Amino acid sequence: MKALEGVKILDFTHVQSGPTCTQLLAWFGADVIKVERPGVGDATRKQLVDVPGADSLYFTMLNHNKRSIELNPKNETGKQVLERLVKTCDVLVENFAPGALDRMGFSWERIQELNPRMIMASVKGFGPGKYEDCKVYENVAQCAGGSASTTGFLDGIPVVTGAQIGDSGTGLHLALGIVTALYQREQTGRGQKVLAAMQDGVLNLCRVKLRDQQRLKAGPLTEYSQYGEGIPFGDATPRAGNDSGGGQPGRILKCKGWETDPNAYTYFITQAAVWEKICDVIGAPEWKTKEGYATPPERLDKLNEIFDRIEQWTMTKTKFEVMDTCNPFDIPVGPILSMKEIAEDEGLRATGTIVEVDHPKRGKYLSVGCPIKMSDSSVEVVRSPLLGEHTDEILTDVLGYSQSELESIKQSGAVGQAKAAAE
Ligand code: COA
Repeated sequence: MKALEGVKILDFTHVQSGPTCTQLLAWFGADVIKVERPGVGDATRKQLVDVPGADSLYFTMLNHNKRSIELNPKNETGKQVLERLVKTCDVLVENFAPGALDRMGFSWERIQELNPRMIMASVKGFGPGKYEDCKVYENVAQCAGGSASTTGFLDGIPVVTGAQIGDSGTGLHLALGIVTALYQREQTGRGQKVLAAMQDGVLNLCRVKLRDQQRLKAGPLTEYSQYGEGIPFGDATPRAGNDSGGGQPGRILKCKGWETDPNAYTYFITQAAVWEKICDVIGAPEWKTKEGYATPPERLDKLNEIFDRIEQWTMTKTKFEVMDTCNPFDIPVGPILSMKEIAEDEGLRATGTIVEVDHPKRGKYLSVGCPIKMSDSSVEVVRSPLLGEHTDEILTDVLGYSQSELESIKQSGAVGQAKAAAE
């Protein structure tokens, strides 16, 4: 048995943010029915195509363990089918542009009429207010949520991060909202509307930067490198390069091979509690007692010198040797892993964090498995559906249409004509 077994999700999501959310729910055991536009499907099926004729990795890696039905709710028969889906399912998840669902005739009021137990969960770019009607993509959310202004180096332009905190991050927030609403429904018997705005999700992940914004009123942020370098602070949280986010100074340092390998680096934190061990490891035992070096506040204006010295040591080791040497002393370090190294990591494969999936049209590919492990609800990653692969079985097995009704639905043009061939 899986944690969400028995929960039916009407998945009206596309691109990345919504599909991230419904993929997680599917991994936890929900029956996720992805509704796609007949003949077209989720736009990502055809984006960044690497194998001609096959769904892209963009699509396959975000839509595992789902069933696909082609359905046009703008067609009268299609609308009736969608109404039946709304009555049958527990949760509707969507991330259309603002107003698109209303234009289809499925406002929140209408959904409540059809199914008062329905939880309607949406990703939008912005919450209510002056930007609520905007269409939003990942990098816009990173900029509007405070991430870009606080990422990058002090003397450079704002930078977006490769982690998809706007899309996948908001999908995660929405998934939590959905399971919380399902839990509350146990008590109230009612559904509710769940909204996760991408700006809000990014800001939530940038919480420590809003913390720093307020700390600025009390004076300069002493743990930021720029303090030690004597560079004055402005009136907003600055970009902090690779400084560590907490109160313990940290940097990215070169390791053996950095001249040719762009990822031969390690993160190194001079955690106060293990300062003496750091001094021993790098061969600077005199710093343990030397005035100006022995305590964290004294060291703040010498961080460049200290990290230069540590780097002289890390450059004599590979990033993995640095880790092997420092770990026994609880010195916090971490290798900069490339995607190639991650893809080949045996440990990540053993835990199911990296999985190999077989697909009838593209063959074997790697994907990221479920990052949340539960002891009583295991996850088997199943390949993403072909467009409309499950149209017939959803109409008959889930919605109870007879064979003759199925034929007339097909005649109406509400669903795709051809059932996709899996082989
Ligand atoms: N059958 C028929 N029409 C369908 C359909 C189906 N199964 N599914 C969707 N459509 C229609 C919608 O009704 C809409 O039509 P309308 O605008 O004429 O009413 C149309 O497809 C396009 O939907 P839209 O959401 O506007 O897509 P888009 O490609 O123009 O915009 C986004 C994409 C992501 C920018 C936009 O959906 C958005 O801002 N979403 C919210 C924020 C978000 O999730 N962003 C991150 C995405 S990773």
